[in-house]
Formats: sequence, C-alpha cells, structure tokens
Amino acid sequence: MSLPRQILDTLEHVRRRVSDPVEKILIERLEREIHAHSCPRSIGIIMDGNRRWASLHGEKPWFGHRFGKDKVREFLEWCKRFKIQGLVLYAFSAENFSRPRSEINEIMKLMKQGFDELATDPLISREGIRVRVIGRKKLLPEKVQQSIRTVEDISRDNDAYDLTFAIAYGGRDDIVDACRAIAAKVRSGKLEPSAIDEETVSNHLYAAIDDPDLIIRTSGEQRLSNFLPWQSVYSELHFTSTFWPAFRYIDFLRALRAYQRRDRRIGR
Ligand code: FPP
Repeated sequence: MSLPRQILDTLEHVRRRVSDPVEKILIERLEREIHAHSCPRSIGIIMDGNRRWASLHGEKPWFGHRFGKDKVREFLEWCKRFKIQGLVLYAFSAENFSRPRSEINEIMKLMKQGFDELATDPLISREGIRVRVIGRKKLLPEKVQQSIRTVEDISRDNDAYDLTFAIAYGGRDDIVDACRAIAAKVRSGKLEPSAIDEETVSNHLYAAIDDPDLIIRTSGEQRLSNFLPWQSVYSELHFTSTFWPAFRYIDFLRALRAYQRRDRRIGR
C-alpha cells in the first residue's frame, strides 16, 4: 500500500528537521574515520529498487528510474572525494529486456538523456573521467548507441577515473562471448590452447575494467544477479536496504567504513 504524496512529503520534512543536524555530525565523524584508512580503488554498484521507491511515492516505475539516473551524478561526486578511481554501474541487465515495453522505452529515453548529459558535463574533462559501456550494445536503440559513442569518443583519452556502465549486460554472456573469440583464435592457429590463462580470458571480456574491491547492492536483495562474475571473485560485498534513488551520502560513507573494517586477506 502506498501512502499519499502529501503525507510522505510531510514525514520527510519532519525527518529532516530532526535528523539533519545529527546526520551532519555523523557525516563529519565518518569522513574523518574513512580518510584515515585506505579506500577501495574500484567500486561496483547494483542500482536496485527504483520501481519499489517509485511505488512508495505512488508513481510509475520511470519516476524511480529518473531519480536513479540523477543519483549516478551525485555518486560520481562522492567517489571523487575519496579518489575512488573505478566505478562500474549495473544499469540494465540482459534479463531486464523482458520488462514491459513501456518501461523499457522510458529507461532507454533516460539512458540517452543520461549519456547526453555526461557528454556535456564539465566534470568529465575537468576530472579526467573515461566513460565506457560494457554489454551487448547492439541490442540498444540506435539513438542510445549514438549517445554512448559520443560520450565514449569525447572521454577516450581521459585517464584519472574510469566510469563504466553495464548495459544490456550479462556476466555470463560476457564470458561466453570471450570464449567464442578465444575459440576462433585457436581455430585459426593464432593461439595455442595451452597458452590460455586467466589473462587471456580477462583480455577477451567486453572491456578491461579493474576488479571491484567493493560491490554495493541497494534495496535489500543479497545476490550479484550476473554482475561481473569474472571480476568479482575477491570483491567485498555490501548490501543495504535503501532503494537506489534514496541512497544518500551517509549510506555511501557507511559502505566505505564497512569495507575498511573487513580483513582482506585474499587467500593469504
Ligand atoms: C533497477 O531498479 C534499475 C533499472 C533496471 C534501470 C536503471 C536505469 C537507469 C537509472 C538509467 C541510468 C542511465 C544512465 C546513463 C545514468 P528496478 O527497476 O529493478 O527496481 P525494483 O528492484 O524496485 O523492481
């Protein structure tokens, strides 16, 4: 059951009046704590809960997707503050193509808008952010593909930060496509089967992205859902019940602190 908008807005207003000053103090303390330890180099995000958040506000799913898109820009700023150099966002899975046509159309419009906004965003060149998309891009509408090409071209030579969107993406598809490419090289005699190692597989995935040190999934689900299966074997996982559009700076700080408290031995 969703509450009327007016009641939700009033509750949010009251919550802010009471909790904002407390939150400010908490944020300052968390920031100090986090700056004193090492941060993840690369983060993966499974942005989940857009539709549930929209429904909570009595709105259609794309209301949540719109706020979810805008959250990405905010998140980028937060990562920059802690010099997190790699960010991979799971924006649309291969399985998401089975959603209603009307919702897919709205998501595609938002994606085009999102990439067009990034292409003209001064942050991209000022901070040296390289934007890339991994996934079966050919399945996307031509207009979205064009916007992706534009932002990828504009940012190709940037080398301070890496921002990667996984779209029309399935981790298993990625591995299957890599296997096909490797098998073709073996068949043509360019590659010896005995020479195939982890690096060979990594080099044939959609793109060379750093293995995420930390993967955050919002909305309370606790699984990876085909997100970066090859690259996530040593990732620390952080699950939060907050829906992606409602994810706040303090949630981000809590995720970083949880990461820093882990004992990362990686088999040692
Ligand atoms: C997951 O929540 C969200 C999606 C499947 C779509 C997200 C896409 C965007 C926000 C567009 C972003 C694009 C750019 C370029 C910034 P959900 O719909 O699965 O929500 P639910 O878990 O409540 O069902």
